[in-house]
Amino acid sequence: MNTKDFSSDKTSARFQAVWSSCGIPPRLVNASFANYEPVCPEKEQALEKCRIFADLGLSIIEQGRGLFLQGPVGSGKSHLSVAVLRAILENNIDCFGRPGSEWRLADVPVYDGYYCSMISAVDYVGTIQESFKTGRLKASDQRMITRARSDAVLILDDIGAKKPSRWVEEQMYALIDLRYRMKRSTFFTTNCTLQQLESQIGCRSVSRIMETCEGVRVGGEDWRKRQKV
Ligand SMILES: Nc1ncnc2c1ncn2[C@@H]1O[C@H](COP(=O)(O)OP(=O)(O)OP(=O)(O)O)[C@@H](O)[C@H]1O
Ligand SMILES: [Mg+2]
Repeated sequence: MNTKDFSSDKTSARFQAVWSSCGIPPRLVNASFANYEPVCPEKEQALEKCRIFADLGLSIIEQGRGLFLQGPVGSGKSHLSVAVLRAILENNIDCFGRPGSEWRLADVPVYDGYYCSMISAVDYVGTIQESFKTGRLKASDQRMITRARSDAVLILDDIGAKKPSRWVEEQMYALIDLRYRMKRSTFFTTNCTLQQLESQIGCRSVSRIMETCEGVRVGGEDWRKRQKV
């Protein structure tokens, strides 16, 4: 892989600025291919598929291609989704930026380029629900929703986890269909099988995911329980 020279302060400063604007949760912010331990053949295969996908680089964004990481609890799906995004950013950092207005006021450099973000599907639906109930939203929540819809790359974590209802299905469909139509890349993670996912978020969303995404089965044991037994 053609890796970027991170010894340059400018490159590293840009990466840090862009990465910190992506909304990666602290528990996963350092996740990378290098610290994903392929302790069994299933994880080794998942890691390899993710590396190959990340090597496609900017063409993923240009073609609106996505990733569908499916597997049991704690197998490392969210970790790998973040690792893929990190690798793409590290290798093409000059093409990535962070949203402007809030930063332009401060004495910090402006970086233009593609925006990327990560959100939990449960948080996304919860925030939309809140806005329907109260009729208004905090600026930060509004920004999160806007970025989920418009960023060039979105990690939509844990789809299918929210108790299904017609309303949840509609909200997920609205987001997935918008991104599909606009050819925006989405990386999905889920514990559900395809059949379960169809009943959780609906056939029409799953159909769009299947067309656009590279499927990666992330198997093996629950990493969270690993050192406990
Ligand atoms: N193979 C691995 N090597 C190193 N760390 C791992 C590995 N798998 C998972 N982890 C770590 O274990 C924790 C749980 O992983 P992660 O959140 O990716 O699991 P998940 O499959 O998304 O789980 P869930 O289905 O509950 O969402 C994270 O802190 C992650 O960095
Ligand atoms: Mg997860």
